Amino acid sequence: MPTDTSPARQQAAHASLSPLARRFIALRQQTEALIQPLSPEDCQLQSMPDASPAKWHLAHLTWFFETFILERFEPGFTPFDAGFRVLFNSYYNGVGDKYPRPKRGLISRPSLDEVLAYRAQVNQRMLAVIGAVEAGADSAQQQELKELVTLGLHHEQQHQELLLTDIKHALSFNPARPAYASRWPLAGIHPQPVEWLRHEAGLVEHGYDAARDGEFAFDNETPRHKAYVAAFELASRPVTNGEIMAFIADKGYQRPELWLSMGWDWVTENKVSLPFYWQGGEGGYQHFTLQGLIDVDPNTPACHLSYFEADAFARWAGARLPTEFEWELAARGLPAGAAAQGNFVETSAFHPLPQQEGSRGLPAQMFGDVWEWTQSNYNPYPGYKPWEGLVGEYNGKFMCNQFVLRGGSCATPQSHMRASYRNFFPPDARWQFSGLRLARDLA
Ligand SMILES: [Fe+2]
Repeated sequence: MPTDTSPARQQAAHASLSPLARRFIALRQQTEALIQPLSPEDCQLQSMPDASPAKWHLAHLTWFFETFILERFEPGFTPFDAGFRVLFNSYYNGVGDKYPRPKRGLISRPSLDEVLAYRAQVNQRMLAVIGAVEAGADSAQQQELKELVTLGLHHEQQHQELLLTDIKHALSFNPARPAYASRWPLAGIHPQPVEWLRHEAGLVEHGYDAARDGEFAFDNETPRHKAYVAAFELASRPVTNGEIMAFIADKGYQRPELWLSMGWDWVTENKVSLPFYWQGGEGGYQHFTLQGLIDVDPNTPACHLSYFEADAFARWAGARLPTEFEWELAARGLPAGAAAQGNFVETSAFHPLPQQEGSRGLPAQMFGDVWEWTQSNYNPYPGYKPWEGLVGEYNGKFMCNQFVLRGGSCATPQSHMRASYRNFFPPDARWQFSGLRLARDLA
């Protein structure tokens, strides 16, 4: 007899689930919705060692739940496929061997259909485990499960963003410049001048604050601690494409005095003369987006800039990048309810949008649109301790040679973001939706 999988039937089934189980299944379905515009061939592409095929993301996310939760909590655990333990392990040495990241695109089997079947089976097993533990286990086990599922869901959201940035990179190699999503109409653009928002010096608390940041944070956002912030001012909005065009017109990419030494080496070795995905010249620029090839809008926040480019632009503009503490201090000054509001993935623009209204004395577009490079090295906070167990490898071991970005982007799920969130990438990374906001010292 065929199974009834109608939306009404599924809705009825989900209505009986606990809040944690409902959140689990909803987030898993959001990942699958992201691949709806893609073909199986699209999902196979790996365009560079830093990016992964969409199919790998789908499988790896499932591996995470299978390895860290089912293996721990499911009676008589049997893996979906024993080979997946190595194939879809990203970087967890404590789990065992892993397939090399630069070669993920060579994995043609399992097929996309098999990976989707893997997801479906693990979803059902996860719902059964969540139901059983919530119904019968002791409170310590219930708490452990809840924490691991919550971590798995935030991991799922991180990869939702990576799936989009990786497929954008892959599609950019196609001369037809295929669009992932339909064109987002730009309307009501009112260019906004930069205002400089003043902050006085002080000893300020930074890091995850459960009362304001929600029930979850990664270990790298803790512990909350004090740091001295000198007086500074922060730009009311991110740097726009029009401002980057002025930097290009002023030969910004040809002037070594504007660049860090490593940045200048990077510019010359890679012959960088434009932001990533840009083409054209002074007569007009276009860039590849998830909406296909479009004209560069001068009022939209600039993105796909490396740390080196962000730093050079700031120097050219007579300013600097903010520290992550300055950024967080400004973000926490937003009125309640304004935090983590912005152009996130739910907008379905899949691209930054121009500022819609004036700043009224508050920083605009702190959340969403573009990740903002800070000048802060990705270091542990004072007293930092990685999580215990296998998931301790999640963040701490990457605290070297990377810089912190804040605020989320147009590819970030809104519920994934908070004022204390620390993203991090090496200084030459450009394929994320990374932009910048300027800061200046005050005497
Ligand atoms: Fe991962």
